[in-house]
Amino acid sequence: MTSLETLNLEIDGPRATIELNRPDKKNAMNPQMHRDMNRALDLIEADGNVKAVVATGKGDSFSAGMDLEECFLRPFDDPMEFYRTNKVALDWFMRIKAFPAVTVAKVNGLSFGGGVLLAGLCDLAIASEKALFGLSEINFGIFPAGGATWATAHNLPRKAALYYILTGDRFTGAQAAEYGLVNKAVPHDRLDAETDRLVGMLVNKNPVTLALAKQVYEHNRATDLPAAIDYDQAKLWELSRLTSNEWINVALKQFEKRAYQPGLKTYQRAEVPS
Ligand code: ACO
Repeated sequence: MTSLETLNLEIDGPRATIELNRPDKKNAMNPQMHRDMNRALDLIEADGNVKAVVATGKGDSFSAGMDLEECFLRPFDDPMEFYRTNKVALDWFMRIKAFPAVTVAKVNGLSFGGGVLLAGLCDLAIASEKALFGLSEINFGIFPAGGATWATAHNLPRKAALYYILTGDRFTGAQAAEYGLVNKAVPHDRLDAETDRLVGMLVNKNPVTLALAKQVYEHNRATDLPAAIDYDQAKLWELSRLTSNEWINVALKQFEKRAYQPGLKTYQRAEVPS
């Protein structure tokens, strides 16, 4: 485990866990945490073997969002300081959205503003039924910025998104699952097990395929069918080359021998030279 000033990072083979570690401040993201988050992502990328990254919070909170004092109030009077402070945050928000490994938010408790953003930017999310979400920006006179409106609009239906953006009202883990902000809400004592189960389904897949599947999803949801098909074709050839045609030479050969059923599980990657 690597302990950064405001985060704990654990890399265990193909799994990494980033734990926000300011529990006495409800894991509010201060400038140090933004720097630490970039550092954690650097370390995970440098490791080269991680296929799934879990983001979670220590204590009773996932994250109370941006540290309102350290990120906004204190640097506000110095425009360059304000810009620099917040750019470090915006950098990792964009990075985590496009991260090559699959990102999973394990929402263990309170999740406000930037906490909703982080859950929304992750590819997948599991929430505790005890989790409580809110876009509190309207309650201090701004709208959700830094990608938070984007993340809300891309994860919640329109009426629900606007309701929470405009009122600052809270919603539960179960509601987050109904809206689609998280894949599932589970009893708090099942959160670790459910997250492990989800991660377990990812880590036996080909990492190149996981990364390209994410890219294809993001591209294709924003384009028309002919452009999507073109992109699929190009990415499929890229995938084939980058994986030495693993899908043909290994996966479909195993299917040909009736060694497994792709509808039910993943092929055996142990036969693949790493
Ligand atoms: N920024 C800075 N400090 C924070 C933040 C935050 N976002 N959230 C909580 N804290 C601090 C509290 O001020 C308090 O500090 P203190 O011990 O020095 O007084 C400590 O964390 C504990 O918080 P409490 O308010 O005592 O905890 P409680 O459980 O009663 O309430 C709640 C939790 C509802 C989350 C409350 O702390 C709150 O409203 N926080 C602000 C939430 C928010 O507006 N987030 C910003 C969203 S905007 C964005 O992210 C862009």
